[in-house]
Amino acid sequence: MKKTLALGLLALAMAAPAQASAVQLNIAHRGASDARPEHTFAAWDLALQLGADYIEQDLQITSDDVLVVMHDDTLNRTVRGPAENCTGRVDTKTLAQLKTCSAGDWGKFAGGAWTGEKIPTLEEVFQKYGKTVNYYIETKTPSPEDDMEPKLLALLDKYDLRESAVKDWQVLIQSFSADSLRKVHALDARLPLVFLGTLNAASIQSVREYGVGIGPSFGGVTKANVDLAHAACLNVHPYTVNNVADLQRMLDLGVDGMFTNFADRLETLLGDKAAPGLTGPKLAAADTRRCRGEQKDVPGDVGGTVPATLSLTLGAPATFGAFTPGVEKVYTASSSATVVSTAGDASLTVSEPGRLANGTFSLASPLGVAITPNAWTGPVSNAVAAIDFSQPIAANEPLRTGTYAKTLTFTLSTTNP
Ligand code: G3P
Ligand code: CA
Repeated sequence: MKKTLALGLLALAMAAPAQASAVQLNIAHRGASDARPEHTFAAWDLALQLGADYIEQDLQITSDDVLVVMHDDTLNRTVRGPAENCTGRVDTKTLAQLKTCSAGDWGKFAGGAWTGEKIPTLEEVFQKYGKTVNYYIETKTPSPEDDMEPKLLALLDKYDLRESAVKDWQVLIQSFSADSLRKVHALDARLPLVFLGTLNAASIQSVREYGVGIGPSFGGVTKANVDLAHAACLNVHPYTVNNVADLQRMLDLGVDGMFTNFADRLETLLGDKAAPGLTGPKLAAADTRRCRGEQKDVPGDVGGTVPATLSLTLGAPATFGAFTPGVEKVYTASSSATVVSTAGDASLTVSEPGRLANGTFSLASPLGVAITPNAWTGPVSNAVAAIDFSQPIAANEPLRTGTYAKTLTFTLSTTNP
């Protein structure tokens, strides 16, 4: 049976997007930072369990040039331990000093289950989660001499995260500093960047030069400025949205995701609309590229067509050999038929066999023909049917010298083409 493969190509018309992306992302602000001490592995682990699409990391830098994950530029609020190591500015301490401190023994967490949590380095975060999670990383209080941006990119490279950041937004880089984001953009213009700040026509105009979104304080978010951002194919990720009414209001305004200390609350509100697993950023990246005309989806239909076929091939002509006069015997011979049928059913029949004839002389008994099988209830390819011939000759039957033969017609037919 011959199959022809038909490939159909159809370009989709692009429609103006209602959102920069169709998904709304759950961004765990400093991890699940209400229930666990912020920026600790305990907080990120819980956020992931609660359904977060991204876990956030704010970056600071030590005096010995190591990127650590901490929101404040001083240690005083969230760090406990020896004063000489664990108070004051982060950038005046070495990593070794910081590692003597606890990051989980403050405020309502004091004396709790997380006092053993240390200040994580960004590298430790990558070592723990690798490519299994999505990171939303903020360059905090960057100064030109810090060189925070190339250090961040070097770590992305070391942990093979740069390309997945570009393609699938596995890493989003955010900052309140447009200068910092422009610095990253200059290093690699493909990386997805989000500016933290006011959402208005001016910021939209500016950010679209280097970024994929704006993260405004949620209080300033309106339908009008969300729509304006979407018209520029920019995502809107407000921070930090914690109570249920505000979370729902942001969803209703059509934001593309939001930072929250309560990933569980947002996940509940998203319900069935929550992006499956950790695929949200990848979907958002693709949607944004589509919006910008950088990605077009062309469905390539694949399929095959089958021409209607009924094919019958007969085997070699059957012969009984020599008939022996004066001897009663049933002579047998066989052949075969090979059937190809694309029909819903098929049957193989033979014309009335009649009697073998030798000129004007015919045998006394009719030729017997049996076909096995002789019917099929579905399509078949190269199905073989046995054709068995039988010819009785009586002891007293006169036989004339020569060849007894008959031409039969075999017919393959269907009632369900
Ligand atoms: O990065 C978004 C949000 O986290 C900004 O606020 O001060 O918590 O870093 P902050
Ligand atoms: Ca932040």
